[in-house]
Amino acid sequence: MTGTAAGAGRPRVFVARRIPDDGLLPVVEACDARVWEGELPPPRGELLRSVEGCAGVLTLLTDRVDDEFLDRAGTGLRVVSNFAVGFDNIDVPACTRRGIPVGNTPGVLTDTTADLAWALLMAAGRRVAEGDRFVRAGRWRTWGPMLLMGPDVHGGTLGIVGFGRIGQAVARRAMGFGMTILYYDTRRADAAVETGFGATFVSLEELLARSDFVSLHVNLTDETRHLVNAERLGWMKPTAVLVNTSRGPVVDQGALFEALRDGVIGAAALDVTDPEPMAADDPLLSLDNCLVVPHIASASRATRGKMAAMAAANLLAGVRGERLPTPVNPEVYEGR
Ligand code: DGY
Repeated sequence: MTGTAAGAGRPRVFVARRIPDDGLLPVVEACDARVWEGELPPPRGELLRSVEGCAGVLTLLTDRVDDEFLDRAGTGLRVVSNFAVGFDNIDVPACTRRGIPVGNTPGVLTDTTADLAWALLMAAGRRVAEGDRFVRAGRWRTWGPMLLMGPDVHGGTLGIVGFGRIGQAVARRAMGFGMTILYYDTRRADAAVETGFGATFVSLEELLARSDFVSLHVNLTDETRHLVNAERLGWMKPTAVLVNTSRGPVVDQGALFEALRDGVIGAAALDVTDPEPMAADDPLLSLDNCLVVPHIASASRATRGKMAAMAAANLLAGVRGERLPTPVNPEVYEGR
């Protein structure tokens, strides 16, 4: 763990992992900052010890922020700034009850995440990773008229589950591929948005039944946990490709394994798993029609820099008692 010299009036903060300098430098400059330098997240006990007496904490999606965490931080805690757009690692109501604003990093990772969702969709559909393994294994003996066939992406039907910023960015990419775009969300988008993307609002059942590709873009909540379960996988086409760049628990992984093994659906590509990291002996990794990458959807150098800057801006505003640029619980400011 590294730290900066404590100085009079410099608020004490804990940064739970080394983040890009775009965010780290302003924090270290302005605060009495301790930075967890490990490649792995701080173990729970270490995390709790580290936040004691802090005015601000910069957390990652690997750090659980709950009542125990907030108790240990103490009453001087003024902000929790998450280095992610998602915040299911944080008990936001618990923070709100204590008047602590929580920040996240919306907007800056939208297109980068959509890029990876698109890469996964293309790779799983056109069997890119499988083809690479095939060549490396010395199995490529000749051009084969039926070798490694998959569905066409262009002209296919894409079902987008969760039509927020990232879902819409995926729709924008699909337009370039001449796809029919269906979407499902708890709220129907404005007519102008639907028209702009040529997207049709349908029930989840219809979306799963009609789509050649299904891409998940919902937050993880009690309602979306195991949204894609055995029954819903059964509604999908046997050739369909499922892409998940949202959160692992949105898919029932046991059911997904059976669906992929038994040909209920064609293929899956996962950026997120349940749990993370996925164990190297997870049954899904034994399947050629399952592609898994290690939660890297936002991992472009530029985007991680912007996320760091945004997380720092939230942290610094919070410790100064200013409104966070991007609070997830703006209700903490009501009546202030
Ligand atoms: C997020 O921001 O929520 C992603 O999962 C990681 O960038």
